[in-house]
Amino acid sequence: MAKRKHRIGVLTSGGDCPGLNAAVRGVAKAAINEYDMEVIGICDGYEGLIRLSTCPLDSQAVSGILTLGGTILGTSNRCNPFANSEEIGGKVVKVDRSDDVLKNCDQLGLDALVCIGGDGTLRVARELSEKGLKVVGVPKTIDNDLSETDFTFGFDSAVSVATEGIDRLHTTAQSHHRVMVIEMMGRYVGWLALYAGVAGGGDVLLIPEIPFDIEVVAEECRERNRRGKRFTIVVVAEGAKPKGGDVVVERVVKGSHDPIRLGGIGKVVGDQIEKLTGTETRVTVLGHLQRGGSPTAFDRVLASRYGTEAAHLIAAGKFNRMVCLKGDEIVSVPLAKAVNKRKCVPRDHSVIRTARAVGTCFGDK
Ligand code: F6P
Repeated sequence: MAKRKHRIGVLTSGGDCPGLNAAVRGVAKAAINEYDMEVIGICDGYEGLIRLSTCPLDSQAVSGILTLGGTILGTSNRCNPFANSEEIGGKVVKVDRSDDVLKNCDQLGLDALVCIGGDGTLRVARELSEKGLKVVGVPKTIDNDLSETDFTFGFDSAVSVATEGIDRLHTTAQSHHRVMVIEMMGRYVGWLALYAGVAGGGDVLLIPEIPFDIEVVAEECRERNRRGKRFTIVVVAEGAKPKGGDVVVERVVKGSHDPIRLGGIGKVVGDQIEKLTGTETRVTVLGHLQRGGSPTAFDRVLASRYGTEAAHLIAAGKFNRMVCLKGDEIVSVPLAKAVNKRKCVPRDHSVIRTARAVGTCFGDK
Protein backbone atom coordinates (compact mmCIF):
# COMPACT_ATOMS: atom_id res chain seq x y z
CA MET A 1 0.00 0.00 0.00
CA ALA A 2 1.29 3.49 -0.90
CA LYS A 3 2.49 5.49 2.09
CA ARG A 4 0.28 8.46 2.95
CA LYS A 5 1.93 11.78 2.18
CA HIS A 6 2.89 13.99 5.11
CA ARG A 7 0.26 16.69 5.49
CA ILE A 8 0.95 20.04 7.09
CA GLY A 9 -1.24 23.04 7.88
CA VAL A 10 -0.25 26.71 7.62
CA LEU A 11 -1.95 29.66 9.29
CA THR A 12 -1.34 33.39 9.59
CA SER A 13 -2.62 35.05 12.74
CA GLY A 14 -2.56 38.47 14.43
CA GLY A 15 -2.13 41.80 12.63
CA ASP A 16 -1.13 41.38 9.00
CA CYS A 17 2.10 42.69 7.50
CA PRO A 18 3.94 42.64 4.19
CA GLY A 19 5.72 39.32 3.62
CA LEU A 20 3.04 36.95 4.96
CA ASN A 21 2.33 35.57 1.50
CA ALA A 22 6.03 35.18 0.78
CA ALA A 23 6.31 33.11 3.98
CA VAL A 24 3.23 30.99 3.14
CA ARG A 25 4.66 30.41 -0.34
CA GLY A 26 8.05 29.50 1.15
CA VAL A 27 6.54 26.87 3.46
CA ALA A 28 4.33 25.38 0.75
CA LYS A 29 6.88 25.33 -2.07
CA ALA A 30 9.64 23.79 0.03
CA ALA A 31 7.24 21.24 1.55
CA ILE A 32 5.90 20.24 -1.87
CA ASN A 33 9.06 20.48 -3.98
CA GLU A 34 11.59 19.09 -1.56
CA TYR A 35 9.57 16.70 0.61
CA ASP A 36 6.51 15.81 -1.44
CA MET A 37 4.21 16.89 1.40
CA GLU A 38 0.61 17.99 1.14
CA VAL A 39 -0.10 21.51 2.39
CA ILE A 40 -3.38 22.86 3.69
CA GLY A 41 -4.11 26.53 4.37
CA ILE A 42 -6.07 27.37 7.52
CA CYS A 43 -8.34 30.38 6.96
CA ASP A 44 -8.39 33.40 9.29
CA GLY A 45 -5.79 32.26 11.81
CA TYR A 46 -6.79 30.06 14.73
CA GLU A 47 -10.44 30.80 13.97
CA GLY A 48 -10.12 28.46 10.98
CA LEU A 49 -9.08 25.64 13.29
CA ILE A 50 -12.13 26.17 15.47
CA ARG A 51 -14.58 26.55 12.57
CA LEU A 52 -12.69 24.06 10.40
CA SER A 53 -12.21 26.44 7.52
CA THR A 54 -9.41 25.47 5.16
CA CYS A 55 -8.17 25.79 1.59
CA PRO A 56 -5.71 23.76 -0.46
CA LEU A 57 -2.22 25.23 -0.69
CA ASP A 58 -0.93 23.41 -3.72
CA SER A 59 1.68 24.74 -6.15
CA GLN A 60 -0.95 26.62 -8.10
CA ALA A 61 -2.44 28.29 -5.02
CA VAL A 62 0.91 29.72 -3.94
CA SER A 63 2.06 30.72 -7.40
CA GLY A 64 2.30 34.47 -7.98
CA ILE A 65 1.83 35.51 -4.34
CA LEU A 66 5.44 36.38 -3.43
CA THR A 67 4.99 40.10 -3.92
CA LEU A 68 1.41 40.41 -2.62
CA GLY A 69 0.72 42.32 0.59
CA GLY A 70 -1.69 41.02 3.24
CA THR A 71 -2.31 37.31 3.53
CA ILE A 72 -4.21 35.09 1.11
CA LEU A 73 -5.21 32.96 4.10
CA GLY A 74 -6.84 35.78 6.02
CA THR A 75 -6.09 36.46 9.66
CA SER A 76 -7.78 37.33 12.94
CA ASN A 77 -6.41 38.99 15.99
CA ARG A 78 -9.35 38.38 18.26
CA CYS A 79 -9.11 34.62 18.43
CA ASN A 80 -7.35 32.77 21.20
CA PRO A 81 -8.46 29.12 21.21
CA PHE A 82 -7.67 28.91 24.93
CA ALA A 83 -10.04 31.79 25.75
CA ASN A 84 -12.27 32.29 22.75
CA SER A 85 -14.85 35.08 23.10
CA GLU A 86 -18.30 33.68 22.36
CA GLU A 87 -21.82 34.90 22.86
CA ILE A 88 -23.78 32.47 24.96
CA GLY A 89 -27.24 33.37 26.25
CA GLY A 90 -26.78 37.03 25.29
CA LYS A 91 -23.53 37.25 27.22
CA VAL A 92 -19.95 37.26 25.88
CA VAL A 93 -17.97 34.59 27.67
CA LYS A 94 -14.51 33.05 27.25
CA VAL A 95 -14.55 29.43 26.15
CA ASP A 96 -11.55 27.10 25.95
CA ARG A 97 -11.64 25.67 22.42
CA SER A 98 -8.17 24.17 22.42
CA ASP A 99 -9.47 20.59 22.52
CA ASP A 100 -11.61 21.36 19.46
CA VAL A 101 -8.52 22.68 17.70
CA LEU A 102 -6.64 19.47 18.44
CA LYS A 103 -9.58 17.36 17.33
CA ASN A 104 -9.91 19.33 14.10
CA CYS A 105 -6.19 19.07 13.35
CA ASP A 106 -6.59 15.34 13.80
CA GLN A 107 -9.61 15.26 11.52
CA LEU A 108 -7.65 17.18 8.88
CA GLY A 109 -4.89 14.60 9.21
CA LEU A 110 -2.28 17.26 10.00
CA ASP A 111 1.15 15.95 10.93
CA ALA A 112 2.31 19.45 11.84
CA LEU A 113 1.13 23.05 11.89
CA VAL A 114 3.09 26.14 10.87
CA CYS A 115 1.94 29.23 12.79
CA ILE A 116 3.03 32.53 11.26
CA GLY A 117 2.54 35.47 13.60
CA GLY A 118 3.77 37.70 16.37
CA ASP A 119 4.11 37.04 20.09
CA GLY A 120 0.38 36.39 20.69
CA THR A 121 0.21 33.85 17.87
CA LEU A 122 3.40 32.13 18.97
CA ARG A 123 2.23 31.97 22.59
CA VAL A 124 -0.87 30.09 21.46
CA ALA A 125 1.32 27.86 19.26
CA ARG A 126 3.44 27.05 22.27
CA GLU A 127 0.41 26.21 24.41
CA LEU A 128 -0.94 23.96 21.64
CA SER A 129 2.45 22.25 21.45
CA GLU A 130 2.20 21.56 25.18
CA LYS A 131 -1.08 19.76 24.48
CA GLY A 132 0.69 17.55 21.93
CA LEU A 133 0.33 19.38 18.61
CA LYS A 134 3.50 19.49 16.51
CA VAL A 135 4.07 23.13 15.60
CA VAL A 136 6.69 25.38 14.05
CA GLY A 137 6.54 29.15 14.57
CA VAL A 138 7.48 31.82 12.03
CA PRO A 139 7.97 35.35 13.42
CA LYS A 140 6.34 38.31 11.71
CA THR A 141 5.50 41.83 12.86
CA ILE A 142 6.17 45.37 11.78
CA ASP A 143 7.04 46.09 15.43
CA ASN A 144 10.20 43.90 15.40
CA ASP A 145 9.60 43.22 19.10
CA LEU A 146 10.40 39.49 19.29
CA SER A 147 13.55 38.94 21.25
CA GLU A 148 14.93 35.72 19.78
CA THR A 149 15.33 37.02 16.25
CA ASP A 150 17.39 39.89 14.88
CA PHE A 151 14.53 40.90 12.60
CA THR A 152 10.94 39.90 11.99
CA PHE A 153 9.65 40.20 8.45
CA GLY A 154 7.26 43.09 7.85
CA PHE A 155 9.51 45.47 9.76
CA ASP A 156 11.65 46.53 6.81
CA SER A 157 8.58 47.20 4.65
CA ALA A 158 7.00 49.32 7.38
CA VAL A 159 10.27 51.24 7.84
CA SER A 160 10.33 51.94 4.13
CA VAL A 161 6.74 53.29 4.06
CA ALA A 162 7.32 55.35 7.21
CA THR A 163 10.54 56.76 5.78
CA GLU A 164 8.72 57.85 2.67
CA GLY A 165 6.15 59.51 4.92
CA ILE A 166 8.88 61.53 6.62
CA ASP A 167 10.41 62.44 3.25
CA ARG A 168 7.07 63.78 2.05
CA LEU A 169 6.47 65.75 5.24
CA HIS A 170 9.93 67.29 4.95
CA THR A 171 9.12 69.23 1.80
CA THR A 172 5.84 70.63 3.06
CA ALA A 173 7.31 71.41 6.51
CA GLN A 174 10.10 73.35 4.84
CA SER A 175 7.73 75.34 2.61
CA HIS A 176 5.39 76.35 5.45
CA HIS A 177 7.98 76.69 8.24
CA ARG A 178 5.97 74.33 10.40
CA VAL A 179 6.56 71.66 12.97
CA MET A 180 5.40 68.36 11.53
CA VAL A 181 4.67 65.56 13.97
CA ILE A 182 4.42 62.07 12.52
CA GLU A 183 3.04 59.24 14.67
CA MET A 184 4.11 55.69 13.88
CA MET A 185 3.09 52.23 14.99
CA GLY A 186 5.30 49.87 16.96
CA ARG A 187 3.32 49.17 20.12
CA TYR A 188 5.50 49.29 23.20
CA VAL A 189 8.83 49.43 21.35
CA GLY A 190 10.49 52.10 19.24
CA TRP A 191 12.24 50.08 16.50
CA LEU A 192 10.05 51.34 13.66
CA ALA A 193 10.17 55.00 14.69
CA LEU A 194 13.91 54.75 15.33
CA TYR A 195 14.85 53.20 11.98
CA ALA A 196 12.44 55.34 9.94
CA GLY A 197 13.40 58.41 11.94
CA VAL A 198 17.09 57.89 11.21
CA ALA A 199 16.44 57.00 7.56
CA GLY A 200 14.22 60.05 7.07
CA GLY A 201 16.37 62.44 9.09
CA GLY A 202 13.77 63.20 11.76
CA ASP A 203 14.96 66.06 14.01
CA VAL A 204 13.26 64.72 17.14
CA LEU A 205 12.58 61.02 17.80
CA LEU A 206 10.32 60.04 20.68
CA ILE A 207 10.34 56.33 21.49
CA PRO A 208 8.92 54.35 24.43
CA GLU A 209 12.34 53.36 25.70
CA ILE A 210 13.34 57.00 26.31
CA PRO A 211 10.58 58.93 28.13
CA PHE A 212 10.62 62.53 26.94
CA ASP A 213 10.40 65.98 28.45
CA ILE A 214 8.14 68.15 26.25
CA GLU A 215 10.07 71.27 27.25
CA VAL A 216 13.25 69.71 25.80
CA VAL A 217 11.35 68.95 22.56
CA ALA A 218 10.00 72.52 22.38
CA GLU A 219 13.46 73.98 23.00
CA GLU A 220 14.85 71.86 20.13
CA CYS A 221 12.21 73.38 17.82
CA ARG A 222 13.04 76.93 19.02
CA GLU A 223 16.79 76.27 18.67
CA ARG A 224 16.32 75.08 15.10
CA ASN A 225 14.42 78.29 14.35
CA ARG A 226 17.27 80.33 15.83
CA ARG A 227 19.71 78.45 13.59
CA GLY A 228 17.61 79.36 10.58
CA LYS A 229 16.05 75.92 10.16
CA ARG A 230 12.50 77.14 10.24
CA PHE A 231 10.85 73.71 10.41
CA THR A 232 11.12 70.61 12.58
CA ILE A 233 10.17 66.99 11.95
CA VAL A 234 9.12 65.17 15.12
CA VAL A 235 8.79 61.38 14.82
CA VAL A 236 6.68 59.89 17.61
CA ALA A 237 6.27 56.17 18.26
CA GLU A 238 2.71 55.35 19.32
CA GLY A 239 4.08 53.93 22.58
CA ALA A 240 6.13 57.03 23.45
CA LYS A 241 5.40 58.58 26.83
CA PRO A 242 6.50 61.63 28.80
CA LYS A 243 8.77 61.27 31.82
CA GLY A 244 6.60 60.13 34.71
CA GLY A 245 3.59 59.83 32.38
CA ASP A 246 1.85 57.02 30.57
CA VAL A 247 1.07 55.82 27.05
CA VAL A 248 -2.01 57.12 25.20
CA VAL A 249 -4.60 54.42 24.56
CA GLU A 250 -6.77 54.81 21.48
CA ARG A 251 -9.16 51.92 22.04
CA VAL A 252 -9.67 48.62 23.79
CA VAL A 253 -10.46 45.78 21.40
CA LYS A 254 -12.90 43.42 23.10
CA GLY A 255 -12.10 39.74 22.65
CA SER A 256 -8.49 40.28 21.64
CA HIS A 257 -5.88 38.56 23.83
CA ASP A 258 -3.91 41.81 23.56
CA PRO A 259 -6.79 44.33 23.74
CA ILE A 260 -4.97 47.67 24.16
CA ARG A 261 -4.50 49.69 20.97
CA LEU A 262 -2.19 52.63 21.33
CA GLY A 263 -2.61 55.91 19.46
CA GLY A 264 -3.04 59.61 20.01
CA ILE A 265 0.33 60.59 21.45
CA GLY A 266 1.14 62.47 18.20
CA LYS A 267 -1.79 64.85 18.73
CA VAL A 268 -0.88 65.37 22.39
CA VAL A 269 2.73 66.18 21.50
CA GLY A 270 1.73 68.38 18.54
CA ASP A 271 -0.68 70.47 20.63
CA GLN A 272 1.91 70.96 23.36
CA ILE A 273 4.65 71.97 20.90
CA GLU A 274 2.38 74.53 19.24
CA LYS A 275 1.45 75.98 22.61
CA LEU A 276 5.01 76.12 23.89
CA THR A 277 6.70 77.43 20.72
CA GLY A 278 3.97 79.38 18.97
CA THR A 279 4.95 77.62 15.73
CA GLU A 280 2.16 76.25 13.61
CA THR A 281 2.14 72.47 14.01
CA ARG A 282 0.49 69.67 12.06
CA VAL A 283 0.10 66.02 13.03
CA THR A 284 0.08 63.02 10.67
CA VAL A 285 -0.78 59.53 11.84
CA LEU A 286 0.59 56.94 9.41
CA GLY A 287 -1.57 54.15 10.81
CA HIS A 288 -2.22 51.04 8.78
CA LEU A 289 -0.46 52.41 5.70
CA GLN A 290 2.60 51.00 7.45
CA ARG A 291 1.17 47.50 7.25
CA GLY A 292 -0.28 47.51 3.76
CA GLY A 293 1.13 46.87 0.33
CA SER A 294 3.90 44.87 -1.19
CA PRO A 295 6.90 43.71 0.91
CA THR A 296 10.35 45.15 0.31
CA ALA A 297 13.03 42.95 -1.28
CA PHE A 298 14.55 42.37 2.19
CA ASP A 299 11.22 41.16 3.61
CA ARG A 300 10.53 38.94 0.60
CA VAL A 301 13.90 37.25 1.09
CA LEU A 302 13.56 36.99 4.89
CA ALA A 303 10.00 35.64 4.75
CA SER A 304 11.00 33.12 2.06
CA ARG A 305 13.96 31.98 4.16
CA TYR A 306 11.75 31.61 7.25
CA GLY A 307 9.03 29.77 5.37
CA THR A 308 11.35 27.28 3.69
CA GLU A 309 13.22 26.70 6.97
CA ALA A 310 9.91 25.89 8.68
CA ALA A 311 9.36 23.14 6.08
CA HIS A 312 12.92 21.85 6.59
CA LEU A 313 12.37 21.67 10.35
CA ILE A 314 9.19 19.65 9.92
CA ALA A 315 10.90 17.29 7.49
CA ALA A 316 13.71 16.82 10.02
CA GLY A 317 11.16 16.05 12.76
CA LYS A 318 12.10 19.18 14.76
CA PHE A 319 9.01 20.69 16.33
CA ASN A 320 7.92 23.31 18.83
CA ARG A 321 10.55 25.71 17.60
CA MET A 322 10.53 29.18 16.05
CA VAL A 323 12.68 29.96 13.03
CA CYS A 324 14.77 33.09 13.45
CA LEU A 325 17.53 35.24 12.03
CA LYS A 326 20.84 35.46 13.90
CA GLY A 327 23.38 37.52 12.01
CA ASP A 328 23.00 36.20 8.47
CA GLU A 329 21.98 32.69 9.47
CA ILE A 330 18.48 31.26 9.68
CA VAL A 331 18.36 29.08 12.77
CA SER A 332 15.66 28.07 15.24
CA VAL A 333 14.99 28.27 18.98
CA PRO A 334 12.49 26.49 21.23
CA LEU A 335 9.14 28.30 21.20
CA ALA A 336 9.21 28.35 24.98
CA LYS A 337 12.34 30.52 24.82
CA ALA A 338 10.98 32.78 22.08
CA VAL A 339 7.69 33.97 23.53
CA ASN A 340 6.72 36.41 26.28
CA LYS A 341 9.94 38.39 25.96
CA ARG A 342 9.49 41.83 24.45
CA LYS A 343 12.57 43.09 22.60
CA CYS A 344 12.90 46.77 23.46
CA VAL A 345 15.45 49.13 21.94
CA PRO A 346 18.44 49.24 24.31
CA ARG A 347 19.06 52.86 25.28
CA ASP A 348 22.66 52.53 24.10
CA HIS A 349 21.74 50.77 20.83
CA SER A 350 24.12 51.68 18.02
CA VAL A 351 21.32 53.22 15.93
CA ILE A 352 20.44 55.50 18.87
CA ARG A 353 24.11 56.43 19.17
CA THR A 354 24.18 57.11 15.43
CA ALA A 355 21.12 59.33 15.70
CA ARG A 356 22.53 61.26 18.64
CA ALA A 357 25.84 61.68 16.80
CA VAL A 358 24.10 63.39 13.88
CA GLY A 359 22.29 65.71 16.26
CA THR A 360 18.93 64.00 16.68
CA CYS A 361 17.06 64.95 19.85
CA PHE A 362 15.32 62.19 21.85
CA GLY A 363 13.58 64.68 24.12
CA ASP A 364 15.59 63.59 27.13
CA LYS A 365 18.39 66.17 27.35
O1 F6P B 1 1.52 44.74 16.13
C1 F6P B 1 1.34 45.34 14.89
C2 F6P B 1 0.51 46.58 15.00
O2 F6P B 1 0.39 47.14 13.71
C3 F6P B 1 1.00 47.61 16.00
O3 F6P B 1 2.11 48.35 15.54
C4 F6P B 1 -0.25 48.42 16.24
O4 F6P B 1 -0.23 49.02 17.49
C5 F6P B 1 -1.34 47.38 16.16
O5 F6P B 1 -0.81 46.29 15.44
C6 F6P B 1 -2.61 47.84 15.52
O6 F6P B 1 -3.55 46.83 15.61
P1 F6P B 1 -4.96 46.77 14.84
O7 F6P B 1 -4.74 45.98 13.61
O8 F6P B 1 -5.85 46.09 15.79
O9 F6P B 1 -5.36 48.17 14.52
